[in-house]
Amino acid sequence: MKTLFIKDILKEDFLGKEVSIKGWVYRMRDMKDKVFFVIRDSSGIIQAVVKKESVDQKTWEDATKFQIEGSLEVKGILRKDERAPGGYEIEVKEIKVYDYGKPFPLKGDEDVDTIQKYRHLWIRTRWFTDVLKIKHSLIVHLRDWFIKDGWYEVTPAILVGNAAENTTELFEVKYFEDKAYLSQSAQLYLEALIFALEKVYSLTPSFRAELSRTKRHLHEYWHFEIEAAWYHVEDIIKVMEESLKYSIEKTIEERKSEFEELKSITGRDISELKQFVEKPWKVITYKDAIKKLQDLGVNIKYGDDFGSDEERLLTEQFDVPVFVTHYPREVKAFYMYEVGDGTVKNFDLLAPEGYGEIIGGSEREWRYDILHKKIEEWGLDKFKVKVGNEEISAYEWYEDLRRYGSVPHSGMGLGIERFLRWICKLDHIRDTQPFPRLRGSWLY
Ligand code: 4AD
Repeated sequence: MKTLFIKDILKEDFLGKEVSIKGWVYRMRDMKDKVFFVIRDSSGIIQAVVKKESVDQKTWEDATKFQIEGSLEVKGILRKDERAPGGYEIEVKEIKVYDYGKPFPLKGDEDVDTIQKYRHLWIRTRWFTDVLKIKHSLIVHLRDWFIKDGWYEVTPAILVGNAAENTTELFEVKYFEDKAYLSQSAQLYLEALIFALEKVYSLTPSFRAELSRTKRHLHEYWHFEIEAAWYHVEDIIKVMEESLKYSIEKTIEERKSEFEELKSITGRDISELKQFVEKPWKVITYKDAIKKLQDLGVNIKYGDDFGSDEERLLTEQFDVPVFVTHYPREVKAFYMYEVGDGTVKNFDLLAPEGYGEIIGGSEREWRYDILHKKIEEWGLDKFKVKVGNEEISAYEWYEDLRRYGSVPHSGMGLGIERFLRWICKLDHIRDTQPFPRLRGSWLY
């Protein structure tokens, strides 16, 4: 077990005292009679110096044998040293060798394919460690908001019998003698669960087999979804503005040093995030968004869906995230509540600075007749499941939710990696996941 992390000993109280640190060699300089190490652990880095004259022969020989990423424990006295990164240095007395290591295959300037090949080693990169910590904080604080607001965390199924979204994007898997799919969204299950718990959320992997290779599409991503009985779409918009602001605010408080380090890589400045938290977010209708794009000279007409270029252009018109509401029914999913004028009660939340959609949400069609017709109209009744010897529509159970005590309800799904990509100002979504699933790249 490890008792102290590097960040714990970078304190005045430890000056002049013996400390012991376990970690990996981050940098190393061998200067004949001294070896300088920079040692890293999950919490930070510290310089450690081994002086030939102050250690025994074995310790000196050990010190000279390490490679970058070799693993060790050093014991020594903590001193102040202005020249050392962070201002502290350990003067080493003893070294415990775990693994000298082999020449490390990554130097820091590799191309994307090499990084993908060595992803299992590359994930130790310091700036990526920062991204992982920021992801952790965003998730923890988002959850925290919902727990405090009285929502229940639930655990929906991942192996599913029907399509929650669009039938062309499913991964099919063998399920004994039948076939099943990997879930695209927990939504339909959350809709069932609100009749027991009223306000629920889940964090699950979602799978999309879409062919597009873009900077914002993964085939496997983490989906934070909520669903609430009696809530209308406007309520969900409020909930999401408040909860995301809370999560961002807490994360920037908690991850100052990580953002500081990341700034030199991606250019994200905490002050930009602060202003997203402070200002009210915008709400516009799809119709107004189309008009805005046309005014900007984009060749788009009412009824077209936005591609990533249109979304980018649209978000550049605002300095805060924007909720776009009331899309035409044809471009959205079958389960959305029909207003009656050809639009549905839905919203997409577009992140600013060109990042585009990070949330899809809506009020659900809770009237049985309309929902039933839409399932037929969307051709979804072709999905069948076997119940005993009978083959029934895979949406039969979903329609039951409208037969036994149906109520107005709404929900949304947030793509965690899209959210993180925006918050960290990352160019490509692959760098939000330790092992991203992208078509054409190696599956570990
Ligand atoms: O807009 P989507 O498809 O909506 C749903 O799945 C709803 N059933 C959610 C709900 O209401 N419970 O996806 C929701 C979000 C998107 O806004 C995006 O952030 C993310 O999921 N997403 C992806 N993230 C990464 N890679 C992909 N291929 C994604 N597809 C969707």
